[in-house]
Amino acid sequence: MAAGQGSIVVGVDGSEPSGRALRWALREAAARGDRVVALTAFQVPLLGTGEFPWSIAPPPSYVELEVEDLRQAGLERLEQEVAAATSETGVDVPRELRVVESAAAQALLAAAEQADLLVVGSRGRGGFTGLLLGSVSSQCSQHAPCPVVIVR
Ligand SMILES: Nc1ncnc2c1ncn2[C@@H]1O[C@H](COP(=O)(O)OP(=O)(O)OP(=O)(O)O)[C@@H](O)[C@H]1O
Ligand SMILES: [Mg+2]
Repeated sequence: MAAGQGSIVVGVDGSEPSGRALRWALREAAARGDRVVALTAFQVPLLGTGEFPWSIAPPPSYVELEVEDLRQAGLERLEQEVAAATSETGVDVPRELRVVESAAAQALLAAAEQADLLVVGSRGRGGFTGLLLGSVSSQCSQHAPCPVVIVR
């Protein structure tokens, strides 16, 4: 692909590995002449006890409000992450920030359909220490329609 036409999708969840993935993606985009799509996914948890479909979903009006608030908060955090990574790397490439209400792996894999490269950190904010890969990086590595870089 000719320089300047590609795009690199990077998953940002605020964790240290995702910060390294973002910095790597910015530098790689600069080297290739690509653009960066920085994507944060979030989900509204279901309320109530028991497993889906028996858990009690919050009423629709409440959900809409909360989703918009969360999306806005997510966008502000994502802007901060990208600004910090941009000033630290000194790299200035075209970029797009996306906050998506979806499971993270699903959102990243969907975005990767139009991308030339998908970049994620090896781990994220999740709990199980000792694992080499998190569930999102693992799913991305197995199902991505494009090459994947996993940054440790
Ligand atoms: N909500 C998200 N939005 C965008 N990217 C994400 C999100 N969650 C994870 N990622 C990406 O995936 C990488 C690996 O995170 P992952 O969630 O797989 O690990 P983990 O949090 O340690 O484990 P798990 O979530 O399975 O408990 C992150 O560094 C980030 O690049
Ligand atoms: Mg995680």
